[in-house]
Amino acid sequence: DREPPAPAKVRRPEYVPNRIADPNYVRIFDTTLRDGEQSPGASLTSKEKLDIARQLSKLGVDIIEAGFPAASKDDFEAVRMIAKEVGNAVDADGYVPVICGLSRCNENDVRTAWEAVKYAKRPRIHTFIATSPIHMEYKLRKSKEQVIGIARNMVKFARSLGCDDVEFSPEDAGRSEREFLYQILGEVIKAGATTLNIPDTVGYTVPKEFGQLIADIKANTPGIENVIISTHCQNDLGLSTANTLAGACAGARQLEVTINGIGERAGNASLEEVVMTIKCRGEHELGGLHTGINTRHISMTSTMVEEYTGLHVQPHKAIVGADGMLKHKGTYEIISPEDIGFERTNEAGIVLGKLSGRHALRRRLQELGYELEDEQLESIFWRFKAVAEQKKRVTDADLRALVSDEVFQP
Ligand code: KIV
Repeated sequence: DREPPAPAKVRRPEYVPNRIADPNYVRIFDTTLRDGEQSPGASLTSKEKLDIARQLSKLGVDIIEAGFPAASKDDFEAVRMIAKEVGNAVDADGYVPVICGLSRCNENDVRTAWEAVKYAKRPRIHTFIATSPIHMEYKLRKSKEQVIGIARNMVKFARSLGCDDVEFSPEDAGRSEREFLYQILGEVIKAGATTLNIPDTVGYTVPKEFGQLIADIKANTPGIENVIISTHCQNDLGLSTANTLAGACAGARQLEVTINGIGERAGNASLEEVVMTIKCRGEHELGGLHTGINTRHISMTSTMVEEYTGLHVQPHKAIVGADGMLKHKGTYEIISPEDIGFERTNEAGIVLGKLSGRHALRRRLQELGYELEDEQLESIFWRFKAVAEQKKRVTDADLRALVSDEVFQP
């Protein structure tokens, strides 16, 4: 039931695994639905995951890691649903995202991932095993030779199922021995891996070091010229965006990120920070790097993830934080709000808060499609103020709830 490989003429260069047509094109791999969902308290329903996947596709991400199919029946179903729907919605330019499922290095996980993603036009299995001395000794209780053998066999096994796009991650690469990394990566390339992802699993590296790691892997791994190198940076020291960009400058052409930077502990590199830095500075400062992201969908996607996960974006968060822009328009603003799809709701700010007046409230409600009588607006205004006192930032979802309470009150 798989479609033939993507046609040669597509909007982006990466749809045929291994083919690198544009050396400066950086693939954006979004793992909000997998790694992001591992944030404590962020669990999503299947319907919410499908909505987010549709939105990620509008945003133009290249690869959606839709979940970890062997983790639970629900996860499996959500990945399968996304593969069937979002993974088949090819647009007029031939764009359709790759749909990826995570698996540990064992046959059951790999087979289950394949059963979930195989419905997509561009399915990918992402398999991983730990390679740092501490993980191999205490978590896996395996020798280096055993770990290489398992990794090689599982990549081969994934390919044998009919999956021609297989990603491999040496977990905790940031703390792994270099020579061992070159060796295991060389072996999985021979076994058929098409993307090699280098995770800084515990967010321990600093940018110079992480960039050097990518450069060393590029220089020393046999067969590396035929595959894509990827980054996956956790944010434990607050360096995930900087590390990711250092990786890109050193030759990585896939960057793993999440919306709003959500993820376990301090989270992951945030899509909006990485993408907007490449957009603002890529041409001159980052050697001409560029992505295929439609940045005007960033704000909407951020809000959707915020509302569905309940993980609020801090007001000072770069790019998508409510206070991040506009107040010092012209003097301090380096990105236009419209670039990421923010509406300018009033002269003072982008998002409504406790200082917003009736005029700003009416305008935003009109933008959301509500035309209210003066009396209704007055009643909503005072309840809006009460919400703003508590939440600081009143979202569109809050406004919709206020309107429906007002309109449907007996
Ligand atoms: O942080 C990590 O090491 C991961 C891998 C599975 C890529 O999430």
